[in-house]
Amino acid sequence: MSRTVFIKTYGCQMNVYDSERIMGLLQGCGYTLAPEAAAADVILLNTCSIREKPEHKLYSILGRLKEYKDANPALILGVGGCVAQQEGEKLFEKAPHLDLVFGTHSIDSLPGLIKQVETKRKKVCRTGLREEGYSDEGVCCVASPGVSAYVSIIRGCNNFCSYCVVPYVRGREKSRPQEDIIQEIQQLCRRGVREVTLLGQNVNSYGSDNGRTGSFPRLLEAVNEVTGIERIRFITSHPKDLGDDLIRCFSALDKLCPHIHLPFQSGSNKILRLMNRGYTREEYLAKVEGLRRACPPIAITSDVIVGFPGETDEDFEQTLALMEAVRFDDLFSFNYSDRPMTAAIRFEGKIPAEVKSKRFSLLQELQNEHSLIRNRTLLNTEEEVLVEGMSKKDGRRITGKTRSNKTVIAEGGAELTGRLVPVRIRSVTAHTLSGDIVC
Ligand code: 5AD
Ligand code: SF4
Repeated sequence: MSRTVFIKTYGCQMNVYDSERIMGLLQGCGYTLAPEAAAADVILLNTCSIREKPEHKLYSILGRLKEYKDANPALILGVGGCVAQQEGEKLFEKAPHLDLVFGTHSIDSLPGLIKQVETKRKKVCRTGLREEGYSDEGVCCVASPGVSAYVSIIRGCNNFCSYCVVPYVRGREKSRPQEDIIQEIQQLCRRGVREVTLLGQNVNSYGSDNGRTGSFPRLLEAVNEVTGIERIRFITSHPKDLGDDLIRCFSALDKLCPHIHLPFQSGSNKILRLMNRGYTREEYLAKVEGLRRACPPIAITSDVIVGFPGETDEDFEQTLALMEAVRFDDLFSFNYSDRPMTAAIRFEGKIPAEVKSKRFSLLQELQNEHSLIRNRTLLNTEEEVLVEGMSKKDGRRITGKTRSNKTVIAEGGAELTGRLVPVRIRSVTAHTLSGDIVC
C-alpha cells in the first residue's frame, strides 16, 4: 500500500517551489499526497524564518500536531526550510515529538532521511550548508504543475542586508546551469504550463558565480525561445543590480510580462545605508523612470520595511514621499523584526511597537489609494488574461492574471482554464479587476 505525505508550506515562492520538488521526489518513491494532515503517514512543514511572526506560528502548529503523534506513534513529523536551517537540533528540544529536521540544502536527501527515521527509529537532523552553495538539483520534476509554474534559477544570497536572515539560512549565491533550467521549462510546457516565474533571492546576480552560465538577460532570451511558453515573469530583482540590459528586455522580449517586483525597503538614504542596500532613493527612482520609459504599461510592485532601528518621523516621511513619487501597483509592507545572526539585531534605536503599527497603517492607507489609482487606469481597456481556474468565491466566474500580474474575475466556465482570453475591464477595486470576456 502506498504511503501518504502531507506538506504544509510557509513563506516565500522559493518554499512553494521546494515543496513541489519534495512532492515530486517523494512521488518517485511511491508516496501519494494525503488530502489532510490527519490522514498522512508523513507530515512535513516547510518553514520560513524571514520575519518573527511566521516563525512563531510554526511553534504553535507544532504544538497542535502533537495530538496527531499521540494518536499515531508511527507518524513521521518533519520540519524543513529556513527555521530548520536556523535552529537545527534545538527544534527537538522545542518539540520533542518531532522526528526529522532537514535544512535548505538537504531537500535532495529527503527520501533517504525519511527512510532513516523509519528503519532506525531515531531522530534525524541534516542541516549542513554546502560551502559552494546549492544548485545541483538537476532537472526537477514537480508533482502537479498548474498553468503557471515556478522555476528556481539561483539560490542563496551574497548581499547581507543588515536585517535579513536569508544569507545565513540559504547560503551563498549559486546559479543553476542554463541547460537544466531550459530543460525543466520544456518539460513543464509539455505538462500544460503556459507561464513560468523564474525564482531567486536576487535574479539579477544570475550567472555571476558561474562563468559558464551567462547573464540573466541572456537566460531570459533563451526562455523566450521556448515554444509553448506564453509568459515569463521573474522575482526578485535587487535595485542595485538592475542594469540597462535587463530593462531593455522589457521592450525586446515579447513573452516577458510587464511587471517587476523591485523592493525599495525604505525611502530614506540614511536608513538605506544602515540596511546595507547599496543604492540611494535617487538611484531607485532613476531605475523606475528607466523601466517606465522602456515599457510604459509596466506594473511595479515592491517591499518596504516599517520601523527599522533608527527610523525617525522624517525618515518615514521620506518613505511615503517615495511611494508618492512612484505610485506602486502593489506594496508588501512589513514591520521590522529582529532576526538571529543579522547585523541589525545589535543596532540601537529600536522603534516601539505602537509607533511601528501607526506608521504601518498610514503606509497601507496610502498604498490602497495608489493601488486603486493604478487599477483605474485599466477601466474599459481590454486585457489578456491567463485563466487559472474557477473563482473560490463564485462558482460561475473564472479567475486569472493580466500580463501585469493583476487578478481578474470574469463570468466563464472551467473549460477556459489554461487559456489566454481577452477581458474588457468593467470595474476595479484596489486589489481586483472585474470584467467581461470579449467574444
Ligand atoms: N523584518 C521585517 N521585514 C523583513 N524582511 C526581510 N527581513 C525582515 C525583517 N527582519 C522583508 C523585506 C523583504 C521581504 C521578503 O521581507 O521587505 O524584501
Ligand atoms: Fe535578504 Fe537582502 Fe538578500 Fe534580499 S537581497 S534575500 S533582503 S539579504
